[in-house]
Amino acid sequence: MEISSYLRHLLRHREPGAPLAREFYTDEAIFALDMDLVFYKEWLFAGHTCELPGTGSYFTLQIGDYPVVVVRGADGVVRAFINSCRHRGARVCPDARGQAPRLVCPYHQWTYGLDGRLFAARKMGEGFDRSNYGLRAVHCNTVAGYVFVCLAEVPPDFAPARRQLEPFLAPHRLDEAKVAFTSTIVEEGNWKLVWENNRECYHCAQNHPELARTYADAPALTGVTGLSEDPAIVRQWEHAESLGLPSRFKLSDDGQMRTVRVPLIGSAVSYTLSGEPAVRRPLTDTYPLASGLGALLFFHYPTSWNHVLADHAISFRVLPIGPRRTQLTTQWLVNRDAVEGVDYDLEELTHVWLSTNDQDSRIVAENQIGVSAPSYDPGPYSAAHEGGVSQFLDWYVGRLRTAMVLHHVA
Ligand code: FES
Ligand SMILES: [Fe+2]
Repeated sequence: MEISSYLRHLLRHREPGAPLAREFYTDEAIFALDMDLVFYKEWLFAGHTCELPGTGSYFTLQIGDYPVVVVRGADGVVRAFINSCRHRGARVCPDARGQAPRLVCPYHQWTYGLDGRLFAARKMGEGFDRSNYGLRAVHCNTVAGYVFVCLAEVPPDFAPARRQLEPFLAPHRLDEAKVAFTSTIVEEGNWKLVWENNRECYHCAQNHPELARTYADAPALTGVTGLSEDPAIVRQWEHAESLGLPSRFKLSDDGQMRTVRVPLIGSAVSYTLSGEPAVRRPLTDTYPLASGLGALLFFHYPTSWNHVLADHAISFRVLPIGPRRTQLTTQWLVNRDAVEGVDYDLEELTHVWLSTNDQDSRIVAENQIGVSAPSYDPGPYSAAHEGGVSQFLDWYVGRLRTAMVLHHVA
């Protein structure tokens, strides 16, 4: 792969903490680099293990040019495959989700086992060796109810993610939850603008009246950089730790993931307009609604940020579609035994974040239009509020530079 000397110059000379040049949000060649060197190389959050309740449950996703299917085998193991038939390439599973004893390609009915092996192919004649035509495997790992996949031939070590995420997440038993609602929207902006907007709350008070009722916008309270600690967040950590829950700000050495538990405003328990729980049953009986859990936040670049509360959890999955277009999938997880209409009202459960996503989507689209101006010449970040934005960009630029050397991009 080759990129122009101009783009290489932009990448080499970007100072730590500085904004990116407009080409990073508009240029097809940079977008191709983002896909080849970041999204096709890193571990990506794909979905939840609770979306795959039984043998043959599957869901699909599109990662750039790769259709992927994630399926639970008869042995209970979650596996991922390129969702492209080894006959003539049709998508084997065209639906977003389903359950089947075998994966049957709709085109000519080549039939695959849940472990990806080609099980049957009609009229292929003597000498056709089925064992050569299994679905291409995609690396797959699960941790505390989260499914991660990696398209790289040799994936990065998953152990650091497991080490960091497991102790924070496992107590919330999300592997035993259920998805109450999924929203998928397309934002008219580059995936990095979606992330930059997520990594600061400088914009929250003016743009997110619903979220601002329960979610503090003070960086010292939301673990934006971990540099400043408010007494309220320290109290939250000590309280949660007394319940056996790891909570202190932790950024991985490479900056790719962060876990931290933060307090909500006042006595709020959940992201509702009142602050009251949206779900009457806690995610797990170990931590009743009144446990004072605050919100466990974690992000894992480049695909996911998350909030885990006492009554529900929300996951966000970022998948680029083009230089100026990004898919955002949001899922609300609740106790598996919670009954819609009895234990929770779907409108109430989803109201704050559907509104927030909608507001952020407009922000990102407007940001994309402005950034695309050939005269784009950004000012500095607010040191008090936008440390998370430069942290994200430093990670991204570092990843791109390292990957370019590793994968010999000229
Ligand atoms: S392309 Fe799948 S069976 Fe022919
Ligand atoms: Fe926002």
